[in-house]
Amino acid sequence: MLLRRGDGVLVPLDIRRWREPAGGGDLGVLRRCTGSVLDVGCGPGRIVRALASSGRNAMGIDVCPSAVAHTISWGAHAVVRSVFEHVPREGAWATALLLDGNVGIGGDVAGLLRRVASIVRPGGLLLAEAAPDDVDERHLVQVVDALGRSAPFTWASAGAAALARHGRSTGWTPTEEWTSAGRVFLALRRTAAGGAAPARPSAARPPGPRAAVSWTCPWPPGAVRAT
Ligand SMILES: C[S@@+](CC[C@H](N)C(=O)[O-])C[C@H]1O[C@@H](n2cnc3c(N)ncnc32)[C@H](O)[C@@H]1O
Repeated sequence: MLLRRGDGVLVPLDIRRWREPAGGGDLGVLRRCTGSVLDVGCGPGRIVRALASSGRNAMGIDVCPSAVAHTISWGAHAVVRSVFEHVPREGAWATALLLDGNVGIGGDVAGLLRRVASIVRPGGLLLAEAAPDDVDERHLVQVVDALGRSAPFTWASAGAAALARHGRSTGWTPTEEWTSAGRVFLALRRTAAGGAAPARPSAARPPGPRAAVSWTCPWPPGAVRAT
């Protein structure tokens, strides 16, 4: 399964790793989680499952019902929800996660970080995975598999420097950067005042065209609609 960018570049999606138990670079993320943890774009739930099995208070959100069903089948807690809609315990989460390219959700990294700042509590933590390259990009993309292509939607990509910069402008202080198993991660601490929260989260939409919120479920593989 691939992400096909508007400029023709094909980016492989690591679906196999997402479906496996947490391991490799995930472990450093799991170690750094504190308090209650919200995994934004949890997919089939390997991180929520790992946290739950070690007795942590964790929940995943994802727009893809089959991914959430998979997470729940592992005995972990998850709800079908967009990060741009109201989430349970909004403003109280101690840690939020944006892994596996999920800083790209909505196609606007700063908009997403501002939104996540309104979901965690003041002083809360964001553990985010950066792109391995020094990029700060936004693309119209399609998920492509053997059956066809999804509708186009907007996705973003940010390397560590860009992610730190977007964080600083949206109510976060970068506190740590580390690399593990070829993956690059940042820890950011929400400043006491936090980011500028949207006035009505339940009605909030990311900036840009409406296609920005569209993501065709890649779970199970083969679920991409032909267009
Ligand atoms: C790159 S995959 C991440 C995989 C996931 N972290 C895992 O371990 O399987 C992106 C995920 O974000 C979800 N997603 C896309 N837009 C979203 C949104 N607005 N709110 C919440 N989840 C979203 C997708 O359904 C997909 O599961």
